[in-house]
Amino acid sequence: ISLKSYNTFGIEAKAKFFLEVNSLLQLQKALQLSAYPEKFVISGGSNMLLTKDIDALVLHINLKGISVFEEEQEAVVIKVMAGENWHQLVLWSLEQDYGGLENLSLIPGNTGTAPIQNIGAYGTELKDIFVSCEAMDIRTQELKEFKKEDCKFGYRESIFKKEVKGQFIITSVKLKLTKSNHKLNTLYGAIEDELSKHNIIHPTIKDISNAVVAIRKSKLPDPQEIGNSGSFFKNPVVSKKTFEAFSKKNPDAPFYAVDNKTFKIPAGWLIEQCGFKGKRFGDAGVHEKQALVLVNHGNATGEEILDLAYEIKKAVLDKFNISIVPEVNIIK
Ligand code: EPU
Repeated sequence: ISLKSYNTFGIEAKAKFFLEVNSLLQLQKALQLSAYPEKFVISGGSNMLLTKDIDALVLHINLKGISVFEEEQEAVVIKVMAGENWHQLVLWSLEQDYGGLENLSLIPGNTGTAPIQNIGAYGTELKDIFVSCEAMDIRTQELKEFKKEDCKFGYRESIFKKEVKGQFIITSVKLKLTKSNHKLNTLYGAIEDELSKHNIIHPTIKDISNAVVAIRKSKLPDPQEIGNSGSFFKNPVVSKKTFEAFSKKNPDAPFYAVDNKTFKIPAGWLIEQCGFKGKRFGDAGVHEKQALVLVNHGNATGEEILDLAYEIKKAVLDKFNISIVPEVNIIK
């Protein structure tokens, strides 16, 4: 079957065998199918670039359910099954007036994949509200709990991209949200601007969510309209020495100090300076409003997107002597 509608890049790739998994028991049984030794897991398909057909049994994780796991006076721990759409979860939390997810509004993909790259936006990262997740060991089919400290979260990083890569399937996630005294995070300049545009002085979590949705819609392409995987590259984090040399030559470049030894430089800015913003090569292109996002205008192949990514990486390295690496999972 075609995986085009299962990946937000809208890449045409075929799965030789495909199974939708609706329960933990089905997942266990599917992993035991010895006729198909190779398994490939797909969930929201929002952070992958397929560059070839998949010669394996593709398991589409469709585990559903949101429940309150533990309730305290001011906070609640919710358990969310992996196949729940992330933004639908954010909307659900806002309806209950549970705080913590509002800055992470409108991120494509499903809840089960959120921990893999510690999704983050507008000053909040998943790790800020994460309690634990449960994952099935692909080899033994046993469920294992990963507590927050086990996950080794970093900037778009976790143990699931490193030490245990390809060994587990996350089945559910527990998040701790506030019931009252919500801790609002409006430090990100664009959120402040958006709120003041609407004369909102005392924002609610819904106001913040609306602001984030408006900002994202103004910059990021909707995967339903133009295939994409959000930011294609990570923002490079460089040493103070590299940063000082860089900013001397590029005094106008935006940056964030991570701590007093490391600095993050927006890859979108670097790519724009290399002249790629809004460029199109066949159906593979660079988004016109955010150069960090590579787009599929219709029928680009994964290879074409990847070629463009290499070209961009090379141009940034030649011009700035800074290496940028993809945050999207490239399936080769
Ligand atoms: N910029 C440019 N040109 C561009 C794009 C950006 O000059 O084409 C400049 C902007 O003017 C701004 C700076 O770069 O000064 C940062 O841009 P922006 O606020 O759009 O954020 P970003 O650093 O490009 C990161 C995340 C996004 C997240 C936003 C907001 C990464 C790799 N990306 O982007 O995450 O939504 O911050 O928090 O960290 C994603 O991971 O898929 C994603 C969209």
